[in-house]
Parts: sequence; structure tokens; C-alpha cells
Amino acid sequence: MKVSTSFVCQECGYETPKYLGKCPECGLWNTLKEFKISNSKLKTTSSLQNLDLKPQKISDVTFEEGKRLSTDFKEMDEVLGGGIVLGSVILLAGDPGIGKSTLLLQVGLNMSKTKDVLYVSGEESQNQVKLRAARLSKNLKANKLFLVSSTDPDAVALLIEETKPSFVIIDSIQTMQSENLEGLSGSVGQVRYSTNQFIKAAKTLNIPVILVGHVTKEGMVAGPMILSHMVDTVLFLEGEKNTGTRILRSLKNRFGPVDEVGIFSMQGEGLIEVINPESLFLNKAIDASGSVLTVTMEGTRAFLIEVQALVVYSKLPMPRRVASGLDYRRLELILAVLQKHARLPLDSMDVFVNVAGGFKLSDPASDLAIALAIFSSLKNISLAKTVAIAELGLLGELREPSLLDKRIKEAKKLGFGRIVSPKDFRNILQVVSHLSKD
Ligand code: TYD
Ligand code: MG
Repeated sequence: MKVSTSFVCQECGYETPKYLGKCPECGLWNTLKEFKISNSKLKTTSSLQNLDLKPQKISDVTFEEGKRLSTDFKEMDEVLGGGIVLGSVILLAGDPGIGKSTLLLQVGLNMSKTKDVLYVSGEESQNQVKLRAARLSKNLKANKLFLVSSTDPDAVALLIEETKPSFVIIDSIQTMQSENLEGLSGSVGQVRYSTNQFIKAAKTLNIPVILVGHVTKEGMVAGPMILSHMVDTVLFLEGEKNTGTRILRSLKNRFGPVDEVGIFSMQGEGLIEVINPESLFLNKAIDASGSVLTVTMEGTRAFLIEVQALVVYSKLPMPRRVASGLDYRRLELILAVLQKHARLPLDSMDVFVNVAGGFKLSDPASDLAIALAIFSSLKNISLAKTVAIAELGLLGELREPSLLDKRIKEAKKLGFGRIVSPKDFRNILQVVSHLSKD
């Protein structure tokens, strides 16, 4: 038997026949590990006749669009682009403990009212899953949800082949470990092998499979990146652990839009859809200084978000700047623009900025709201109920963000009429002088 050796980067999956200290793909050191592949089964065919290769005219290719399964969660179906496509493989990624197992168990329970669903747990025993299911659903009798506790991807693939369920949940891909290759569960080799097994099963039997993956958003790029390349769709479940709000996001979708979001709330009885999330991130309006609203776009949806700032005299030689819910460097930049172009004495102040509701604000259209919240706290001028929508340039100029009209419309719809935008002001100094006069 011929055996060949290859080296695989444990971070990005880069493969090379020679050992290298540094991975040329992702640039990390000492991440290449040796794998042995037996060549005995490699096919060599010299004649086309034995191959199943039949080109088809594009007009003759039949395509069944609309064959999608509903998760019974409107928020999730929309993020997927209208439900789960048959034969597709979906990765549900997110921090440990964020609610991935809960969401999928609920989806499984919903779907199993009419279809056979297989839930494979590599992390919890059947009893534990049952216990959780009993909390999530009152009536388990009529259910066609099948539980199996296993970490063997070959056995699970065989089980899928023989029982042909309508939908499969694998929780999680990191627990899968095949005896067919070296490496512990969670290693790049194992993850890739197991994912391949499930992809094969999904594609040949036209059964959709959803895989749970414990990864942080940064980890999506640096860590098991290969996983997201292999699957059709990548969903990300995020949220602060201490607020109940959970945001489901599509980062990649071969069958639908990306950057679409669905909003859930984690309650005692599992995840509940939030039907009118536009104003979810607003606190009960208090008429204090330091609070300004903005409208941020997530995919096609607009959300009204409250930015809070607290500005106090600093006793430190290096005043403190604390940002939660937004990038620290962005806060520094906005502070510098305010100092220079709005002539606000911020260099002697401690500045704390917080985005209400645990929302992560990266939309540049919220620049002005952050700036005005700081201004409001510094000058003790209440701007509560003011909606600010603009990007801020380094010269203090206000720039029109994408979809400005849509954002303004959304703010008005929710009853906020006082809107500051590039439609009425050219730069930050104009805005600040105008608001000081009121
Ligand atoms: P889980 O789905 O186990 O997270 P993951 O699979 O992403 O690691 O969620 C765990 C958390 O969710 C746990 O802290 C308890 C909480 N939870 C609820 O608040 N309500 C519920 O009904 C359930 C089942 C869990
Ligand atoms: Mg889990």
C-alpha cells in the first residue's frame, strides 16, 4: 500500500507535502501537523466511459427552488432566506453557552411535529437532552424527534443513511472523532473529516444537516476557517450573556441574503422570537443628559439604538476612555474630532460610552450619535429623544450614510421627530452650536 504524507495547518487547513515552520496561508508558526494518507484507494481512470460524467445543457437542468423546510421561527426562516434548503449543510456558530443547543432543540421540536428529526448530541446524554426538551415543550408525546448520543461521525453518517430522517442536527461538530484518522476531537483533521461525512450524507440523500460549532466571531477567521468554507450557510448566534437578547446573523449563505438578522430573547422557556425588534434596544426614556438615539441598519432591517455617554473631570494624567458596545479606537477618533472641530475640552475628561441593550454598534452612521451623546453629557444638555444619523469625517464634516431616507423614515415611524442628519447640517460645529442655543 502506498502511503503519502501531507502537512496540514491546524489553523486554516492549508495543505503542503513538505514541512514548513510558518504557514504561508495564514502566517502562523508551528501550526503544520503531519497526516498520512493511503493511496491504495485512489482511482485512476483513463477512459471516460466508466465515469459518471454527463454534461447537461443549462436549459435542461431542472432546479427545484422553493423546496425549503420551515423552522417554525419566522426570524430564523428569514435569516436563512426563506427556510432550510433540502440537502444543504448549515453551520450554527457562537460562543459556548450562548444558546445554540437550545435554539436547535426548539427547531427540532418544532419540525418534528410533522417530520422525522434526528438530534445527535456529542456533549450531553439522551437524558440531559430529554430534560431540556421537557422544559421547552409541553407535549412530547406526538413528537417525532429522535435522540442519539454519539461522537462517532462514521456511525452517525451510517445512521442517517439507513433511517433517512427529514432533518439532522449535530451538536457539536467539535465533539466528533473518527477512528479512521489520527487526532483528537476538535482538531482540524477531525473537524474536516466529520464535516465531509455529513456533507456527503446531506448531498446524496438530499437531507439538510445543521452543525453546531463553538467559535467566537474572531475565531471564525483565524480558527477553524475551513469549516465555514465547506458548508453552504454560516449562521452566527450572538448576544451578551447577561442580557436576554440574542441576534442570529447569516455570515455566509449560498441560498439567501447575508447580514440579515433575526432577534430572539432567552427566557425561562427557551428562545422566544421578538416580533417588533425595531425599538428593542431603547431604554425607557429618561430625560437626562448623555443620551442620544441613532438608527442602525442590519441587513434590510432598521433598529433604533440608544447611545449613552458619561463625561466627568479626570483626576488622571491620562484620562480614561471606556467604550462598551463599540470599538475603542473609534471612540478615540470621535473624541479627537470633537476636540479639534467642535472645540470641546475633552482632553481633561474621563469619557465612558455605552450602547444600550448589549448591541454591538459598528455602523459608521452612528458616529454622530456617539459624538452628540458625549457633547450632551459634557454640556449637561438633554438630547434624549434626539435621533442623530451621520458619519463623521476627520475634518468634522457630516457625511451621508447609506439608506439615510430609510433610516429617517424608521425614526419618524417610531415617533421621533427631532432628527439631526447631513440633510440639515454640514459639519459638527454647526450641529453643536445649534444644539447649544436651544
Ligand atoms: P445552550 O443552548 O446550552 O448554549 P450552547 O449550546 O450555545 O453552549 O444555552 C445555555 C444557556 O441558556 C444556559 O446558561 C441556560 C440558558 N437557558 C435559558 O435561559 N432558558 C432555557 O429555557 C434554556 C434551555 C437554557
Ligand atoms: Mg450546547
